[in-house]
Order: sequence, then C-alpha cells, then structure tokens
Amino acid sequence: MSIVFNEKHRTISLHTKNTTYQMQIDRYGFLLHLYYGKRAEGCMDYLLTYYDRGFSGNPYDAGTDKTYSMDALPQEFPSLGTGDYRTPACIIKNTDRTYSSDFRYDSHSIREGKYSLKGLPAVYADTEEAQTLEVVLVDRVTGVKAVLLYGVLPEYDVITRSVRIINASEGHISVKKLMPACLEMVGGDYDFITFYGRHAMERNCQRIPIGHGVSKIGSLRGTSSHQYNPAVIVAEHDATEDSGGCYSLAFVYSGGFQSEAGKDQYYQTRVLMGFSEEQFAYPLSAGEEFQSPEVMMSYSSEGLGKLSQNFHRCIRTHLCRGKYKETVRPILLNSWEASYFDFTGESLLKLAKQAADLGIEMFVMDDGWFGNRDSELRGLGDWKVNEEKLGCTLGELISRVNDMGLKFGIWIEPEMVNEDSDLYREHPDWAFVIPGRRPNRSRYQLVLDFSRKEVVDYIYEQICGVLDQGNVEYVKWDMNRSLADIYSATADSQGRVLHDYVLGLYDFLERLVNRYPNILIEGCSGGGGRFDAGMLYYTPQIWCSDNTDPIDRLEIQYGTSFIYPASSVGAHVSASPNHQTGRITPLKTRGMVAMAGTFGYELNLNELSEEEKAEIRRQIEEYKKYASLVQTGHYYRLTNPQTDNQGAWEFVSEDQKEALVQVVGIKKHANMTVDYIKVKGLKENTMYRDTESGQVYNSTALREAGIPKPVLEGEYQAYQWHFVCEE
Ligand code: GLA
Repeated sequence: MSIVFNEKHRTISLHTKNTTYQMQIDRYGFLLHLYYGKRAEGCMDYLLTYYDRGFSGNPYDAGTDKTYSMDALPQEFPSLGTGDYRTPACIIKNTDRTYSSDFRYDSHSIREGKYSLKGLPAVYADTEEAQTLEVVLVDRVTGVKAVLLYGVLPEYDVITRSVRIINASEGHISVKKLMPACLEMVGGDYDFITFYGRHAMERNCQRIPIGHGVSKIGSLRGTSSHQYNPAVIVAEHDATEDSGGCYSLAFVYSGGFQSEAGKDQYYQTRVLMGFSEEQFAYPLSAGEEFQSPEVMMSYSSEGLGKLSQNFHRCIRTHLCRGKYKETVRPILLNSWEASYFDFTGESLLKLAKQAADLGIEMFVMDDGWFGNRDSELRGLGDWKVNEEKLGCTLGELISRVNDMGLKFGIWIEPEMVNEDSDLYREHPDWAFVIPGRRPNRSRYQLVLDFSRKEVVDYIYEQICGVLDQGNVEYVKWDMNRSLADIYSATADSQGRVLHDYVLGLYDFLERLVNRYPNILIEGCSGGGGRFDAGMLYYTPQIWCSDNTDPIDRLEIQYGTSFIYPASSVGAHVSASPNHQTGRITPLKTRGMVAMAGTFGYELNLNELSEEEKAEIRRQIEEYKKYASLVQTGHYYRLTNPQTDNQGAWEFVSEDQKEALVQVVGIKKHANMTVDYIKVKGLKENTMYRDTESGQVYNSTALREAGIPKPVLEGEYQAYQWHFVCEE
C-alpha cells in the first residue's frame, strides 16, 4: 500500500519506491506538512517546533497558547487569513468581499488508481500502478471547500498534486490565487534551479540559493513561454548530478504560471507552483467548482541525474500518449529552413525526392501552403489549401510523396489569425482585442479567442477539412506569439479568459488526437515557447527551439534534459553556416546533437554535395541503430556545456548492457588540453567493449577516471563511444 493513514498519529503517508511524503491532521484540523524525502517509516511530527514567536499570531482555537502559529508551521495548502503571512497557495475573494480562508480537515479517502482531470492533461496509470488520496478541507464560515488530490506512482517515484475549489457557499466567490503544489522544508539550505531563456535560446539553467524574500519566475504570456519554463528543481545546496537531495516540480499546464521560492523568518523554505496571479480571478457561483491542473513532483536522494530520470520515465510512459509514445519516430525532413515561404508543389516534390533517396522517412510541409500566405503578413485563419501555389490538390501532393515511400506531414497554427485574412474580415471579434484599444501585434498576427467554444469548433472543422484530404501522418502544431489584449466578448468575467483559452486549446487537441489516432503531433511555439508537461499529453514531441545551431543546442538540450525526456525533444540537422547564428559546424556534429532527440533534417538537400549526401546516408543508418536506446535509455548529463569545454551526455539501456556516450567540443585552443569524460550508469566493475574501436574498458575506471576525448583537428568536433557489456 503506497498511501497509509495512521489513526493514532493522524498522519497520511505517501510512499513510493524510494521516497516518502507525510502530512498530519493536527489537533485543530489544520493539514500540516511533515516530510518529503528519502523513504522513511514512522511519524515525523517531531519535526514541528512550537515557540512563542513575536508578531506571529495564533488561531483562536489555540486559546492562550502563544506557541501555536500558522506563521511558522509547514502546511499542505496555506491560505491567506489564518495568520500565516508567508506567500500563500490560495487566495479566495469571498461573498462578503473578504480575502480570508480558514481551511480545516473535513474528510479523506484513499482509492486505487490515479485520478484524472476532466478537460485537463494529467499523468495516467493503470489501477494497480497508482493510488489516489483525496483530502477535503473546508472553511466552516464560508462553506468553501478545497479538495486536495494526490496521485502516487510508487514505481516512478512520482507524486502529483491538484486542487479543486468547490463553492459550497451561498453566493458568488472568486479564486484569486491557486497553487496546487506547496513544498515546505523546515530546515536546510536549498537552491532554486530554474530554466530561463528567450526565443531561440530556451531553457538555460540557472541555480541560485533560496534566500530570504521570494524568488519568483513565471509567465504572463498566456502560454508557458520561452522566457521561463513551468518546471523547477529545489536542490540541497551541495547536491550534484550524482549526490544529494533534490525535488522537481513540473506544472502539467500550458498557460501562464508562477513558481515562488523563499525562506521565511525562521529560515524555513516554501516553494509553490501554480497559476500566474496576474489577470487571474476565476468566478464561481454558488455550487460551482474549479479544478486546477496538476503538478508532477519527484524526489531523489541521489542527485539531479536520478531526479531527471524519474521524470523522463514517467513523462514518457505515463503522460505522453498515442501510437508513437513508445515507438521510434520517423526521421523527417521539414521544409521550413529549406525554403521558408518560397516553394511550389514541384519544388517540394523535388525536395521530397532527395529526402527519399537519402533514407529519410517523412516529408513535412511547413508554413505557407494555405490561404494567401506567402509571408508572415497574411493568411493565418484561412485554412484552405492554396492549390494554385501547390499546382495540385493536397491529396495529389500527399499521394506523390507517399509514392516515393515517404510519410507526409503538415504544419498548422490554429490559434492565430492575421488581420489580412478572410476569417478576420468576417469575424473581427474572434481575436483578442479590447474594445476601444488598438491591439498589440506580434509577427503581424492576433490570437483567436479559444475561450469561446464556437471559435474552437469553427477552426477545428477547418483543420479537419484539411487533414481529411489525404494520408496525413504528422502535424506540427505551431503557436507564434504571446497572448495580449485579453478580452472575451462572451465571458462573464475577464479573469477567467486566460484559463478558459487553455481549456479551449486542450479541448481542440483532445478531439484531434481521438479523431486521428495515427497522426503524430509535434508541438511548437516559435520552437520551445510552449514546451511543457501539459502539451506532452497531446503531442509526444515538441520542436525544442527555432535555434538549430548545434552548439547553442547543446545548452538548450542540456537545460531541457533536467525535466523532459529525449523522446520529447524535436531536433534537426540544418545547414551550415547556421541560419540563426551563422556558425559553421561539421555535419557530423550537427547529426550527433540532433540524434539526442527526435531526429530529423531541415535544410535544402538540393544544395548538398555528393560527399555530404553520403554522410547523411550513413548518419541515418547510424541513428536507426541507436534510436531505441536514445528514446528509452536512461539519460545522463556528463558535462555542463554552459561552462565546460565539452558538451557530453549519455544514454544507458535499462538493462545496463549498452551505452552511447556522445561528446561535442565547444572550446578550442592551440596545444589543446585533454578532457576526460566520466562515463556513468554502467554495471559496477564490469568490462565493456567500444563497438567502434573494439577496445575493452572497465566500467568503474570509466566512471572514476573517465575516458579521454581525442583532441581532434578543427572546431566543434564530435565524438562518440558505443559500449556493450562483455558479460
Ligand atoms: C515558427 C516555428 C518554425 C516554423 C515557422 C513557420 O517560428 O517554430 O519552425 O514552423 O514558425 O512560420
């Protein structure tokens, strides 16, 4: 049993294979947090301390006991109004216009299986694989309930949290702040690891000590954003890749979010993850409820490497869905960096022909095939195939591509509209524009109001109308701007619109995956602007960045790897000099970096030399050899490309019989020093053979002393070892 209620101590413990999470219903009915860490038995309420603390008030129930204060006690779901002055997980505006909530334990239940969330993405599991805890808290004055949901997946060391607010009061309330996950640490020094960035340079890793005052990251953009990723790690100050305690929290949500971390006056750490507060005020009439998305959490006592592997495994097998979740994805050629908007049906077919000759498996027609879309300026919203540009119907184009032995994929951007489009001329009120104001433009486009069902329904019909024209096996779902000018003509409150937009998006995606179970959908938002656990429920892979430069990609993919599995990372070989940075890199290096994700190409194959074509053929054969290891193996970060001379990483098969170590040189000097790459995750003191050179190595020596990366001539040289166990 993974969830255990102890009647004597009134504790509820959530056990996974290696971790324990414990809470206690205390003498006044407050739900206190006791422990989250390495697996442990027994009651941990000795961790709570009670002292008379100045200016930390006491609940009335405590009578004359000045030592009992919510301002110092760790809690599962701290709200505003109980005398806790730290940043709360919940603020509700009550019917009487006050902002106080006093949630006390009402009941709890434990059931087999993992809860699911209507209309929202969530980790799923078979009944025997997981358990659910539901704790009902109630504010006895207002009647408002907070139902805390905990999903426990013991084999994965993953616990999920979500909260449902039920307005059982008589009148109208509004949910102003809601953070489904709250971590409380009564002692210790922790770092806050976050992933910041910008368009084409996403998920850089930042590690800062959690100090006094609140460190906050988030997104006000209506999407999870390039600028901050909705996943954070809280690590003991001295935790490394291989040692120390650390926690990860990922919001399974694709809209605005925030995460806060800070130490309180008693040096206790609180970390929250949930909705962005700005523009959020969700109205609930009497009897209505609001279900939050969930937060995935994991703990590792063995450092960051293991923590990432916990998430990778769970995301890959219990969040991603569909036909492609466990299968190796087709090697694709995307037309974007090959020809941008400048193509015809014939030029696409020429490209496809080259792709087929090289052994590529799928051809993807990117932006520019619909309406009058010949540039960024126009056409979004008009999902009619431009047969004039293609010189044939979509069905014919697809058949011809299929006849070459290639699958066919297509690009769409359903959430957007250009002002220069028939759709906008017909329905100007379907785009987010505040009456009386001129809207913010971005990439010359406006965002459609997906909080309105009729808008979602209309675009859905249009997109299905396209997908039904032929054998489409892949869709790239793009989203190329941040939301602004939030105003929905039909909403009863504008404070709900941003969340309802995300629900509209999820509704569309859910219908799409059900109607087209054979289509592989790749998420995209100007590259990795919506790379989050929520999207991965619908799209098992996401275009990781519009930056295809392999050296920049080392950092982008490094940051991404802390949370997300390689199977979710869209990565392509592109031209050199690179279109984003102008950097010149070897084809081998571009191939190796792209192989650490869902592999593909994105360049004009017609411009390649015969030598390059031969190398691509070899690259494809090689990728096929390792694809399954990359997709399902344990991932290890071997260096930090933000600071080290080399970017190096490794995939180890689950049975530890095989490993692929890949390394790319970043810095180059004359008379170069040698870097030793420490190989991890192999069986202890066991001999492994490098299949390339035939040389045999001892695994313990490989880990402790490393293996010298050959000093190679030229910049940005890549090298790899493929080890197989000799046993
Ligand atoms: C975004 C995507 C690119 C490409 C273009 C097309 O920038 O990230 O990959 O699809 O849109 O307009």
